[in-house]
Amino acid sequence: MSEKTILEILKDNKDKLVSGSEIAKQLNITRSYVNKKVKELIENGYDIKTVDRSGYIYISEVRVLNATLIKEKLNKKKEVIILDEVDSTNNYLKNLAKNSTINNIIVIACKQNGGRGRLGRNFISTKNTGIYMSILIRPDISMEIAKKITCLVSVATSKAIDKITKLDTQIKWVNDLYLNGKKICGILTEGSTSIEQNIMEYLVIGIGINCYHQDFNEELIKKATTIEDEGDMIISRNELISEIANQIDYYLETIETNKFMEEYIKKSFIIGKKVELQRGNIKMNVKVIDINQNGELVVVDEQNEKQVFSSGEITRMVI
Ligand code: BTN
Repeated sequence: MSEKTILEILKDNKDKLVSGSEIAKQLNITRSYVNKKVKELIENGYDIKTVDRSGYIYISEVRVLNATLIKEKLNKKKEVIILDEVDSTNNYLKNLAKNSTINNIIVIACKQNGGRGRLGRNFISTKNTGIYMSILIRPDISMEIAKKITCLVSVATSKAIDKITKLDTQIKWVNDLYLNGKKICGILTEGSTSIEQNIMEYLVIGIGINCYHQDFNEELIKKATTIEDEGDMIISRNELISEIANQIDYYLETIETNKFMEEYIKKSFIIGKKVELQRGNIKMNVKVIDINQNGELVVVDEQNEKQVFSSGEITRMVI
């Protein structure tokens, strides 16, 4: 018996209690099989309340990833693939990019077992609590402009989250998004270049967003949060994914104008702040005075010398 049939019975009785034995009887299956299948549905994001010994109440499917719903809201046609589990959606698309000419495709995973962050870190990607997505594009842009894509994607993602949640996300240089002082989103952009032609061959934009409440470990709980915890809301990941892709397309069309950089600077919360900046193994205390039109960090160091950095990691705010 397919889980869809159990799902259909539950959906037909939305907000009402349906007993496990009733479902089992209708479908001629065992009570324990119903129980197992309902558990799977819950794991896949269906909001089904289990009432002890009595049965189940179907509430909603707002948490369920759905490629059709994502495609419907895209301004520019793209292929959308949803994977149950993968090591990393960035790895998946990088392999595809190397071995084909595919362009404009979004891959989303319910769960990543090898999610990667910047600087070789892990990105925890617990099943169906967040968005783990990558977009493959082959933009016709020079290397100079391609360097700014990271900032462009940060702005686009930040704007998309704000639009869907009505919250006010901020950017921590280079590409972390924060809500109320804690991280909710990380971005990892990877690409391959054709040095001879000075152009990008392909770009894989990886975005990870903490959407629904999860029990972070002791270390993460101090630094990370979720949209649900900060906004007290359950968003539709489908809507947010489409909006992110639309915002990225919008800013890519106007990339030559550098318009996104104005927005990037407006949303950056570290300008004027003293921070600890890590570059390789070296850490230094600096005061951020600006982010320039190339997206570089302009700082004054402890010797009062002005310095400009195009890469690095802000490891903490200095009080
Ligand atoms: C960071 O916080 O340093 C960047 C995190 C990027 C995570 C996303 S999730 C989808 C894509 N696949 C990955 O393995 N990483 C990115």
